[in-house]
Amino acid sequence: MVLSQWKAEVNLLNNLQKWAAICDEMQENYPVLATPFLAAEKRFGPRWVEEAVPAIEGMYGDIGSPLSGRLKDALGCYAEFANDSMRHQVMFERSGKYRASNYEEVRAALYDNADHMTQNYLPGLWFSHYVWPQHYFTLIGFTNCVLPRIEDEGVFFEVGVGCGMYSKITLDNKPGIRGIGFDISQHSLDYTGRVMKSFGYESRYRLENRDIRYGYDVKADFLICQEVLEHLENPAEFCRWLFDMIRPGGQAFITAALNAGHSDHIFLIRHPVEVEKMLSEAGFQISRIQEESAPGSKPRNLTPSLAGFLCAKPL
Ligand SMILES: C[S@@+](CC[C@H](N)C(=O)[O-])C[C@H]1O[C@@H](n2cnc3c(N)ncnc32)[C@H](O)[C@@H]1O
Repeated sequence: MVLSQWKAEVNLLNNLQKWAAICDEMQENYPVLATPFLAAEKRFGPRWVEEAVPAIEGMYGDIGSPLSGRLKDALGCYAEFANDSMRHQVMFERSGKYRASNYEEVRAALYDNADHMTQNYLPGLWFSHYVWPQHYFTLIGFTNCVLPRIEDEGVFFEVGVGCGMYSKITLDNKPGIRGIGFDISQHSLDYTGRVMKSFGYESRYRLENRDIRYGYDVKADFLICQEVLEHLENPAEFCRWLFDMIRPGGQAFITAALNAGHSDHIFLIRHPVEVEKMLSEAGFQISRIQEESAPGSKPRNLTPSLAGFLCAKPL
């Protein structure tokens, strides 16, 4: 065996051991929520752990045994986030509606709430990208099928950065690109700022607390808006604002969560064709659609899924 191959195998083994320490913590303290952690290796294949462990260590420090207090706290935040999702999914399944309906109320209660964003939502989202099938498979589709179709240089925007995962992955894969992240939550901006610092991207990325309805003076070559549409009262109007932020010939990756109860979901989208219609009516030409579902055997209208669209603004 050549040295590089041997090193890769040792690294894989180390990473699997680190993941086992995370699984142990979940099983011990949050057994009801441990299943996706235990299932991840088999579900996602061997490359996944090589992505998950560095992403988690980059934000929360080394995964040792025993697990650090910082990592235990972060997994506690994930547990709050997952519980919130499960509770709201049950309410959604019973009523057929999302509980929240007023954007300003959600904004005040959640996006502006430091405790909720830092001790639940943002770390929860970060982990969920590596344990929820609909999140991980969408991220992989973005990395392997969307980013290769995007130019290597230029400026990208991410609107609604949340935990900053999609901006980070874009910067990882496109060394010549620079980005600007927008959000209306200062807590999302602060978390994403930490991501950029932790992974060394501060010089290629900046953040702005901005409501995009008022437009922007520069147009993007590429725009990402990942799981924001379902948080709005009028996502069709938002799609038009996104369209306006891109240069003619530029591209966008826009996703929406469907049939997914969460405390901050307002606009119920039931099927990808509804998003397709909003994007087409805004002027986008769609070239790729990927839909990924949460595990389970419930009917489509009760199963959370995530639909992602690669689309272009015609020249
Ligand atoms: C579910 S998160 C986005 C997920 C993100 N892609 C991630 O990976 O973490 C939704 C984000 O949209 C932001 N948001 C909500 N309304 C917005 C708006 N009108 N403009 C920009 N961001 C908004 C929220 O503050 C929150 O950070």
